[in-house]
Amino acid sequence: MTASRGPRLRRLAAWPLLFAAFVRTWTPTPAAFAAPRTVQGSEVRSLQSSVWAPRASRLPRRATVGVQPVLAPGSEGPTWWDARNSASPVVLPPADGAGESKWRMWYYGRAGTLWARGAEAFLPTGRVGTACSEDGISWSRVNGPLSGGACFDPSSEDGAFDNVHVGVGDVVRLPNGTLWMYYFGGGEEEVMPGKPGLKMQIGLAASGDGGLSWERLKGGEPILPAGEPGSFDALFVAWPRVLQPWETASVTGIPDGKWYMSYHTAQFGEGGMKWSAGAAFSDDGVAWEKAPGPVLGPSDGADLWDAQGVGVRSVAPLGDGKLAMLYEAVDAQGDHAVGLAESSDGVKWLRQEVPGASAPGGPVFAKGASGSWDSRVVGTPYVVRPTEAGGAWRLYYVGESTAKKGMSIGLAETSELRSGWRKVGGVPPAPPSGG
Ligand SMILES: *[C@@H]1O[C@H](CO)[C@@H](O)[C@H](O)[C@H]1NC(C)=O
Repeated sequence: MTASRGPRLRRLAAWPLLFAAFVRTWTPTPAAFAAPRTVQGSEVRSLQSSVWAPRASRLPRRATVGVQPVLAPGSEGPTWWDARNSASPVVLPPADGAGESKWRMWYYGRAGTLWARGAEAFLPTGRVGTACSEDGISWSRVNGPLSGGACFDPSSEDGAFDNVHVGVGDVVRLPNGTLWMYYFGGGEEEVMPGKPGLKMQIGLAASGDGGLSWERLKGGEPILPAGEPGSFDALFVAWPRVLQPWETASVTGIPDGKWYMSYHTAQFGEGGMKWSAGAAFSDDGVAWEKAPGPVLGPSDGADLWDAQGVGVRSVAPLGDGKLAMLYEAVDAQGDHAVGLAESSDGVKWLRQEVPGASAPGGPVFAKGASGSWDSRVVGTPYVVRPTEAGGAWRLYYVGESTAKKGMSIGLAETSELRSGWRKVGGVPPAPPSGG
């Protein structure tokens, strides 16, 4: 098998968003990863009084075409935890009745080219931080308790599954106000030579302070481990999205009281690396049982927009008995877009016909025109349902320009999830009108 490793690694590098685009010649700031500092109780309290005091947001004005990102790296200087990449937004709208008036975002990123323990990063993951907003459009970073302003770091334990890098997959608000973060992370085990961090698995952390400080549950062990050797998800399980029972209640094929998780993995095979989604169910959000998978994989045609399979996804109940999935996919040339699938039970997923698109699944959302901030790639969709009757669906996503300045976070809206996504967001202020 050794002989196949070279080509495999080259194929690994062929998927730009996931595996190649983030290894750059850039002076790393190892300090950003050195010994994450955990603050003590009194310090946390003093931080808490200032935490949600937003930092001024300064969006870079480099991109010249179209709307701007809603959160871009670098505006806080090179020592901030996400100075290089701000990626994979997870967004909770204000919670009625929970005394929570602001929009909250958690996202992952990093400041340099290295992960913890000196590992070379091949994803924009690394650490997790947070931001808040009055309207979900204009965001301010929030200073977390860890070094560089982060709020969740790789484990400091030797041998931990997630001691090299972590990323946020989803955050859910429990009825008692506690937040749970479903995260994924990789450790030092090299399932592929020279690629520590590749064997990603899913863990769970809790926050009692609104998402600023986090404590690992289940003793820091994965709550969803990678599959047994030979199974479709043996390489890694990552990018979890989680629906609570009140969210799955309207889905006809999901039994009452079940939590639902969507995740994805990848396999090597003919035609390179292919991505596919899996699913799992739970009675309590902690102990999960996987459905036989994959539940959605590569499309049949080699020339289709999603020929290489299904990557990061977001799932949402449509209210008509079905679940929608917006999924990031890539074609044989490495071009990314976001498409649509639907399911009545979370296991049998069908690519949907999309207005104006010829292929099953769409796409419904694509990269921007030349010169725009997302001209090279779009990905990691995160759907937020309308917060009021007649309101807009929102899609938070990550993008990067062909000038490759690092990942930024963008926003699109539509009145109907299946089509009509329109990029909105950090529009530069209009020049003063009149005299
Ligand atoms: C909130 O609910 C979760 C899940 O049942 C539980 O683990 C946690 O201890 C609760 N937190 C508080 C502060 O009651």
